[in-house]
Amino acid sequence: MAMVSPATPDFKPSQNRRPDAPDRPEDSVPTRIVLAMQGVTKSYPNGRVALRGVDLMIPEGDFVFLVGPSGAGKSTVIKLLIREELPTKGLVLLDGRDLGRLKRRDVPKVRRRIGVVFQDFKLLPNKTVRDNVGFALEVTGTPRRQIIPAVDRVLRVVGLTGQADQLPGQLSGGEQQRTAIARALVHNPRLFIADEPTGNLDPVISWEIIQLLLRINELGVTVLMATHNADVVTAVRRRVVALENGRIVRDELGAAYHRED
Ligand SMILES: Nc1ncnc2c1ncn2[C@@H]1O[C@H](COP(=O)(O)OP(=O)(O)O)[C@@H](O)[C@H]1O
Ligand SMILES: [Mg+2]
Repeated sequence: MAMVSPATPDFKPSQNRRPDAPDRPEDSVPTRIVLAMQGVTKSYPNGRVALRGVDLMIPEGDFVFLVGPSGAGKSTVIKLLIREELPTKGLVLLDGRDLGRLKRRDVPKVRRRIGVVFQDFKLLPNKTVRDNVGFALEVTGTPRRQIIPAVDRVLRVVGLTGQADQLPGQLSGGEQQRTAIARALVHNPRLFIADEPTGNLDPVISWEIIQLLLRINELGVTVLMATHNADVVTAVRRRVVALENGRIVRDELGAAYHRED
């Protein structure tokens, strides 16, 4: 069997510190961990084991690619993080809160700290771009006078101001995904999760979407993206967490899609 690196050996939060950061005690605040999985195993009701003892830590401001072959468990990680599924064993912590023990009434509040997009966009076909994005705020009871500027702001971020009054069916695939990204951002999430967001897009458009996610990360949002897109991952050189058969087999900073040693 090939040697695999243990779960998170290469990663130290201190590597996120600016090299010129002064070394005074008041500045050495530890990096906040947005997301942590500890010893997570997930078995589905049909007996299928999707994750086996996964440990993962994502500090504030990180940009992480979650890679691995189809069936490796990437979407299961994401479903646990958005609490669509519960772990069979282990802990899933968002900002230190155990998602598995969250009271039902606290779920929406916690879910709002996360923005999520999927491969198939999931837009409402009969609502305009503006309304698809604004709807996410309407359902949480945000007053109209706050919705309008918030929607305008995120449409500017994703570059869709000119398409605000179009329906999803009148948009290209890339524009539909940018609408979904705007919708995911409109709550000002701390964490942005994307499950194969470029899976239905051609290479040029995929590249634009990645650039957009990098910009969102620069604005201070922690980003986790599950992807098969080896070219993009290798070109961008960020942290890569690789899953195989439900286990983390690699966790490397500034990495390529495939192991290089
Ligand atoms: N709802 C489910 N019920 C049963 N098995 C599932 C379910 N969702 C995923 N699986 C299985 O769990 C494993 C991991 O799936 P998934 O997390 O979707 O992987 P990936 O996103 O990396 O392709 C696969 O074997 C898959 O068939
Ligand atoms: Mg998947």
